Amino acid sequence: MLETELAGVKLSNPTILASGIVGVSGASLCNVARHGAGAVTSKSISLEPRKGHPNPVIITYAQGMMNAVGLSNAGVKDSIPEIEYAVKNSGAPVIASIVEFKAENFGTLAKEISKANPAIIELNISCPNVSHEFGKPFSHDPAAAEWAVRSAKRNTKIPVFVKLSPNTPDLVEVACAVKSAGADGITAINTIGPGMQIDIRARKPVLSNKCGGVSGPAIKPIAVKCVYDLYRGTGLPVIGTGGVTNGADAIELIMAGASAAAIGSGVYYRGMDVFSKVCREMRGFMEKEGFSSIREMRGIAHE
Ligand SMILES: Cc1cc2nc3c(=O)[nH]c(=O)nc-3n(C[C@H](O)[C@H](O)[C@H](O)COP(=O)(O)O)c2cc1C
Repeated sequence: MLETELAGVKLSNPTILASGIVGVSGASLCNVARHGAGAVTSKSISLEPRKGHPNPVIITYAQGMMNAVGLSNAGVKDSIPEIEYAVKNSGAPVIASIVEFKAENFGTLAKEISKANPAIIELNISCPNVSHEFGKPFSHDPAAAEWAVRSAKRNTKIPVFVKLSPNTPDLVEVACAVKSAGADGITAINTIGPGMQIDIRARKPVLSNKCGGVSGPAIKPIAVKCVYDLYRGTGLPVIGTGGVTNGADAIELIMAGASAAAIGSGVYYRGMDVFSKVCREMRGFMEKEGFSSIREMRGIAHE
């Protein structure tokens, strides 16, 4: 009933661990799969190791979270065995997220990470937390986004999904540019903003980076609209991401046009069981409403 597909990759259910949440090691990706995720995405991996920002890097507020982790990761050389381990032992498709700051480096990185044989490679071209180091994310500019995707596609046979941000004047224009470069699918959305929280007694911003990408329930309506536009505007498979904490949220993204729903902040709100809980809630809704497959619900809000 919950099976779905992303560019030919079969998932037993449409819940996916979003990038950056707990998936830094092969063992932690396997642990998330054991908790019922239909696929698992690694933390974004760069060519060289990155320390990231000093603490505090994550804060919560009433409607969501803000983070400025700063893309800390072990670099591609040490990450390949971790992805390989997850591919062999998780029992679920593994999505390797990669990030770089020169478009042409996505080619080298895609070639390297392909050695671990993930089911999908996700290009993170939309992180809002490192612009002071690297300038505007590629997802803000159709030509830069297209170049990054072309570079990756030339260097791998594995399906490539591209992670986009609504922080751009025309999301569908960017999506069409990455489609023309050969993208096999889109993940939407990354965190938005960035936002800021000020400790009024300390009289300064709480995050060490001062600001951070906003995620969680506050961004769900933006994610739904982006997925709706991307489904209509590109026809590519979409991993809907943003504010999913329960089965109804996941179904909303699927009705907007997503083929699957990734969960990030929801892990903090409901624990690792969020994946099996969301699946149970989706099944309950589908039985009550007479749906027997994800395909029947996908994009139904457009009819
Ligand atoms: C702590 C944290 C770290 C994140 N790190 C990454 C990352 O490394 N790469 C990436 O593409 N997205 C990263 N994200 C964004 C999430 O994958 C997701 O797109 C976003 O949080 C929206 O989904 P959510 O509302 O379910 O959290 C991160 C999000 C959080 C909260």
